[in-house]
Amino acid sequence: MDTFIQDIDILPYKRFYSVDKIPDLTGKVAVVTGGSGGIGIEICRQLAVHGAKVYILSRGEAHALQVIAQIKDSHPSADLEYHELRLESITESIASAKAFLQKVHRIDIVHLHAGFVVASMDGTVDGIEPLFGMQHMGHFAFIMTLLPFLEKQSLDDVRIIVTSSRNHELVPKPGIDFTKLGPGKPKDLDEVSLRYGRAKLANMLMSNQLAKVLKARGVTNITVNAHDPGVILTGLMKPVARELGCFGPLYLAWYKLISISPQEGALTALFLSTSPDVKGVSGEYYVPIGRKAKCSKLALDDALQKKLWEWSEGQMSRVSS
Ligand SMILES: NC(=O)c1ccc[n+]([C@@H]2O[C@H](COP(=O)([O-])OP(=O)(O)OC[C@H]3O[C@@H](n4cnc5c(N)ncnc54)[C@H](OP(=O)(O)O)[C@@H]3O)[C@@H](O)[C@H]2O)c1
Repeated sequence: MDTFIQDIDILPYKRFYSVDKIPDLTGKVAVVTGGSGGIGIEICRQLAVHGAKVYILSRGEAHALQVIAQIKDSHPSADLEYHELRLESITESIASAKAFLQKVHRIDIVHLHAGFVVASMDGTVDGIEPLFGMQHMGHFAFIMTLLPFLEKQSLDDVRIIVTSSRNHELVPKPGIDFTKLGPGKPKDLDEVSLRYGRAKLANMLMSNQLAKVLKARGVTNITVNAHDPGVILTGLMKPVARELGCFGPLYLAWYKLISISPQEGALTALFLSTSPDVKGVSGEYYVPIGRKAKCSKLALDDALQKKLWEWSEGQMSRVSS
């Protein structure tokens, strides 16, 4: 797990945003993939507390409904709803986006946030390595299906926020070998870490390329930015601890020591989706807490961005033909 250890930022993070800076969001509609997990819950809570209608997208309806009940317990006027999303299937990601469009009359904020580190399957439904297939390909299919609607709306400030990770910086050249994205078990936790970094690099590449594509089309009211939320002890780490066997509890204790709270972990995402300072800013990368940063050289590689885009479009055509 060396790569996880290298990824520690110096605490405490400088704070450029806080919940008291979130403006009134009444009338706005927000969608958060992975909104039922550790950081996602806090993103959803704050968006809803500040007046937005929030849709929590995940696989587990029962758990998401519990999350909604908990938020409404302390904030009865919060308006949250569950919508099913299964990112491990391109077809289902597209179907989820289409069904979602039937429910809403506007979309102001899209957080592409869901993720995991250890996969319970060897490959996605479409035969793609699961971390890549779910975190990148599922999200790509989902956002590409929403995009025509986002572009047609006459809203002047629509924001897409991609949750990446500092781990994207740990991926060695060439970044993504497109011949090696098939299913298969990782041989050890170092490979898990590399696969996770590769999926997070894909998130960065997609975010940067989508910002360019929109700009090239003259779309100025939709912005796309990516971020790293920081180090936060959430459900994400539990499967890693399980893989580590008797060292698992030690790993979790260490992770807790270097973690910020999920509330703080949500702030960079919230900064990007709600701060008036980010209006019109697109194609950028932020780290905790709301600080603009440089992403890796690979994430800025034009050729790699285009290649991933074309590969992803190809995957969508493959499943729909
Ligand atoms: N925690 C950290 O230190 C850290 C650091 C850097 C980046 N991140 C990123 O932050 C994001 C959230 O992490 P977290 O720590 O909050 O994780 P978490 O607590 O494990 O939450 C993950 C969320 O993703 C959803 N999800 C998982 N698989 C899914 C699938 N196939 N389809 C749809 N939804 C799915 C989960 O709901 P269901 O299981 O019900 O589907 C849950 O809502 C991830 O993108 C992660 O990579 C986290």
